[in-house]
Amino acid sequence: MIIDVKAGDITRARTGAIVLGYFQGKGLTGKLAKVDAALNKTISRLVKEGQLTGKNGEVIVLHSLGVLPAGMVALMGLGKEAEITADKVRGAVGEACRALRQRRAGTVALSADVGLKAEEVAQAMAEGAIMGLYTFDRYRSTQPERSEIEKVTLYSAAGELSALKRGLAVGQTIAKAVNLTRDMVNEPSNYMRPRDMVVAAEGMALRDGLKLEVLEREDMAKLGMGALLGVAQGSEEPPKFLVLTYRGRRGRGIDLALVGKAITFDSGGISLKPSDGMGEMKGDMAGGAAVLAALDAIAQLGIKINAVAVVAATENLPSGHAYKPGDVLKAMNGKTIEVISTDAEGRLALADALSYVGSRIKPRQAVDVATLTGACVVALGKVAAAVFSSDQALADRILAAASRAGERVWQLPLFDEYKEQNKSEVADIKNTGGRGGAGAITAAQFLSEFAGEMSWAHLDIAGVNDTDKERRYYVKGATGIPVRTLVNLAYDLAK
Ligand code: BES
Ligand code: MN
Ligand code: ZN
Repeated sequence: MIIDVKAGDITRARTGAIVLGYFQGKGLTGKLAKVDAALNKTISRLVKEGQLTGKNGEVIVLHSLGVLPAGMVALMGLGKEAEITADKVRGAVGEACRALRQRRAGTVALSADVGLKAEEVAQAMAEGAIMGLYTFDRYRSTQPERSEIEKVTLYSAAGELSALKRGLAVGQTIAKAVNLTRDMVNEPSNYMRPRDMVVAAEGMALRDGLKLEVLEREDMAKLGMGALLGVAQGSEEPPKFLVLTYRGRRGRGIDLALVGKAITFDSGGISLKPSDGMGEMKGDMAGGAAVLAALDAIAQLGIKINAVAVVAATENLPSGHAYKPGDVLKAMNGKTIEVISTDAEGRLALADALSYVGSRIKPRQAVDVATLTGACVVALGKVAAAVFSSDQALADRILAAASRAGERVWQLPLFDEYKEQNKSEVADIKNTGGRGGAGAITAAQFLSEFAGEMSWAHLDIAGVNDTDKERRYYVKGATGIPVRTLVNLAYDLAK
């Protein structure tokens, strides 16, 4: 799909459909009034009948009946004018583009005159269109009946072409990174093994001039990564530890380390999960996919920071080689861990990834991303990711970045009292918090023991990683959260 920008009057666009924003309670002014008049007051009638309200996400498609050069006119609800945000535009454009794809519009013109700055609106519209039109049907031999939208043009009456183009380029880069993450997460686990994560990272390194280092099982053993190796022990598939580096400024230090959990399939291991819904655990590598794609986008955007993505990739399977409840593992930072459940494997993989980052990379900030706990889904549902941090300034930056991105993130506490629950009788720590509740917090508290003195934050994306609803710019399957938050954070750190 091509996206471009144009200055001029959208009502004269020769295209499959033009899309106009409509604000709740505003009435028909400007272009809307003009199109309404040309369509014999059809839009006025829809408003009167309560069919067009302007509620954000609402889309109504009308045939132009030949009175306009465009074949169709779509009206997208933007909510109240005084409450307009980039994310409402992003969501409305996602809905409108899907509605017009279904009606075989082929090409679409979007009115960029929605009351936001040109750069911001172009970025949001590009993201809404590219994310909203995402599909994953690689494995269906008969593709669903669909005629793709080939071209989207952003129309601005005011001109401002250079600002629009700048926003468009940023939005395209970010949305493509989100869709790349979704592709990786949606892949079945037999096609997205640790070695396939390496192939994906190699592609990024080659395209964007990044440095990729891949540690093999022997390298991990030499470094003392006993926790990650414990998880990997039950699988025939070799684990991989990836370090992807981007240098966007002079000087050696690393400003931001992104650390991802990449369990390419989480069966639970010997603490086997129930079979109902187990297939969803093909997405347990989402944190790893997100940090790789986010780093790639940060590089493509030329953001002036030095950053790395570190990914611990392995399967978690039961077998005669598998690690077992009761086993004691030793992580790279020397701490011993009593395994209570082999299904609490993510924190084990991250224990070594965080130890590695703390001792080898020593970044100014570290942020890990993981589909870590079912308890996080209980606490925040499928609406918000949880953030935990040893550094309130970093938490605040992440919350602000998420809010700019339109991704919901909510902070949960790391009170010392929760550490109690991770105490072991036989080792330095145990890998579950037991029956005291607060499972998302005790998991985060576990990670903090391996983050050491770093300025560190942890994002638990277990709930928001996938969705079963088609809404706004999301479709069923992976969401690509929190790629947009991470890119926004990088922009903030470059200031
Ligand atoms: N990958 C799961 C967490 C998860 C659950 C992700 C639901 C997405 C949706 C993780 O490895 C896990 O199994 N966690 C256990 C931990 C428990 C054994 C302490 C859980 O949450 O049940
Ligand atoms: Mn698990
Ligand atoms: Zn897991």
